[in-house]
Amino acid sequence: MRAIRCTAYGTPEDLVLTEIPTPTAGPGQLLVRVRAAAVNFPDMLFLSGGYQVAVPPPFTPGSEFAGEVVAVGAGVTGFAPGDRVAGSVLVGAFAEYVAVQARAVTRVPDGVGLDAAAAFGVTYRTAYFALRSTAGIGAGDTVVVLGAAGGVGLAAVDLAVALGARVIAAASSAEKLALCTARGAQVVIDYDRQNLRDEIKAATDGVGADAVLDPVGGRYAEPALRALARGGRFVTLGYASGQIPSIPLNLVLLKGITVCGMEIRTFFTDHPEEAARDTAELHEMFAAGRIAPHIGARFPLAEAGAAIRFVADRRALGKVIVELP
Ligand SMILES: NC(=O)c1ccc[n+]([C@@H]2O[C@H](COP(=O)([O-])OP(=O)(O)OC[C@H]3O[C@@H](n4cnc5c(N)ncnc54)[C@H](OP(=O)(O)O)[C@@H]3O)[C@@H](O)[C@H]2O)c1
Repeated sequence: MRAIRCTAYGTPEDLVLTEIPTPTAGPGQLLVRVRAAAVNFPDMLFLSGGYQVAVPPPFTPGSEFAGEVVAVGAGVTGFAPGDRVAGSVLVGAFAEYVAVQARAVTRVPDGVGLDAAAAFGVTYRTAYFALRSTAGIGAGDTVVVLGAAGGVGLAAVDLAVALGARVIAAASSAEKLALCTARGAQVVIDYDRQNLRDEIKAATDGVGADAVLDPVGGRYAEPALRALARGGRFVTLGYASGQIPSIPLNLVLLKGITVCGMEIRTFFTDHPEEAARDTAELHEMFAAGRIAPHIGARFPLAEAGAAIRFVADRRALGKVIVELP
């Protein structure tokens, strides 16, 4: 099969398209013909060996995919060849076929495209676990989303709107903010050109927001935290800016703010009941067409490296997809 390979730690430009043996479905696994794979921010980190979990080369990058089941391994029930599924792996998705644990895939609802299914899982789960279970966002709450036109950010905008919240979206360009508005954000702030804290305060009549979702970190975190209302929640999700912020704890003390983290892999094991409830609610909304990922760019398999570079260079609007027709 054709696969994109990282043969030594490096950059997206070092990736090569090559032929490797097609994997087989081992016990408990499915073999899936990949039709679409989504780029995620950590894909870049895997290539440099800089992710929390290092994978030694050679390996096939790509962690999120959708396609059709072509073979079912021993002990697997409930799936058959031809089933449309989406799932995630640590690495291996930028290839024509992927062998995956059956428990790591879900069925793609009828009427949902495989590209949308590939773009959905990681970012929407992250955003929903953060909004619903970590920040406790409900109808009428005001939530600030940083990096709001990125993968996690735009999913958070879509989901917060679906939950009935008022969304203040912050991002770095007019084009990104226009997309946030189109997806239902009521207030938009260009955090590279406007004063983030002052604009959030102005948009909340000086009261402050109920919650901040932050997948970016860096210099945006503190002004956003300063613009929380008393008792507000700050959810740290990631550091796409490359900088982990330090927050003066007196800011947390003075307004009784809760700062918490949410990490998708540990959330499933630490909070199994909330994860199961949230996942069921998410899939219901997805199948009903109430929420949908925005796909801002598409690349062929041979250009998967360019797709990763596109995301790393802060150019992506929503999700970037690698297509394998
Ligand atoms: N906690 C979890 O379980 C979890 C799950 C998935 C992802 N994450 C993390 O969340 C973060 C965002 O992931 P994502 O998939 O949303 O990524 P993404 O689609 O690339 O979006 C990241 C956003 O960060 C902003 N940004 C600011 N400075 C940047 C820089 N120097 N380089 C790149 N982007 C920059 C960009 O928006 P502007 O240009 O508008 O500033 C961009 O849209 C990553 O750190 C990822 O590892 C965490």
